Amino acid sequence: MAKIGLVGFGGIGIEAAKALVLDPSLTCDIVAFDRPEALSQVPGAQVGAYEEILDAIGILQTGHTMRLTSDVKDLEGCDAIIFTAGLPRRADQSRADLIGVNVPIVGGLAKEIGKAAQGAFLVMVTNPLDAMVELAFRNLGFPETHVIGQAGVLDTGRFNIAASLATGVPASQVDCVVMGGHGPEMVPIYSTAKVAYKPLTDLINSERVAQITREVRDRGRTIIQRQGRSATFSTAIAAVRMAKAYLLDTREVMACCTRLNGEYGYNGIYGGVPTVISRAGGKAVEIPLTASEMVAFDESMNATKAMIAELDQVSR
Ligand code: 2OP
Repeated sequence: MAKIGLVGFGGIGIEAAKALVLDPSLTCDIVAFDRPEALSQVPGAQVGAYEEILDAIGILQTGHTMRLTSDVKDLEGCDAIIFTAGLPRRADQSRADLIGVNVPIVGGLAKEIGKAAQGAFLVMVTNPLDAMVELAFRNLGFPETHVIGQAGVLDTGRFNIAASLATGVPASQVDCVVMGGHGPEMVPIYSTAKVAYKPLTDLINSERVAQITREVRDRGRTIIQRQGRSATFSTAIAAVRMAKAYLLDTREVMACCTRLNGEYGYNGIYGGVPTVISRAGGKAVEIPLTASEMVAFDESMNATKAMIAELDQVSR
């Protein structure tokens, strides 16, 4: 049975556990980890959520098992880890604003996980994603194929549903991808976007293209403004989808924040690109981009480089 670690049992970690329990295609042993201070709080929202999920396993009568722990050593033997620990942003913050507060949390935990859970495939979710996945990679000591970031699956999902709503075609028939960093410079790729086999841009006008681009880039913030906290359900679904692709060796290609080795002209840096996920881990895949898409991708990578420079300063 696959063992899956959830590092951080807050909003996204709890939703990830629910998604795993509801998934009949993967019976797993879930180990949810959070800090002892968080788990001993009274009233204990996290312990309550854990008990509810246990009850759901009882109701569904699945083979899942679940533990809630504050001991990193319990992550030993994990096949996959979904890392969500750290503070989420508020509506008045950009993702990049979180770098100072999340560097010590992610860096410290990644070191401990590196000792406890060698061999695992780790999906980073904490923001600012493009810097946190780099920080985790540096501290874990895992191969680069086994440290990838979740952002593109969420952003691509947002693009898919926007295209679906704009054309009236179900999302199951929509095939879009968002590349670049998980920030305002992210790049929805229109040249390959298809809706029921037709180019998306044949079905919508340029105003609609601009509107969808804006919506996809702003979606994280508008969700915080509306519900008072950042997206948890959709983010968790995206991370679970990536972990499942690894555990079930599906070889699906999905947008992930993956360490590049010459792809798209970049080396030794994480970038949001189509990535094939198999039991061998994540590997970047090159797709043809137009000249203007490549320029936009470069701009987004420049934002990532600036964030890595800040990461270097903060973690010095
Ligand atoms: C978002 O875009 C949480 O960064 C995440 O909603």
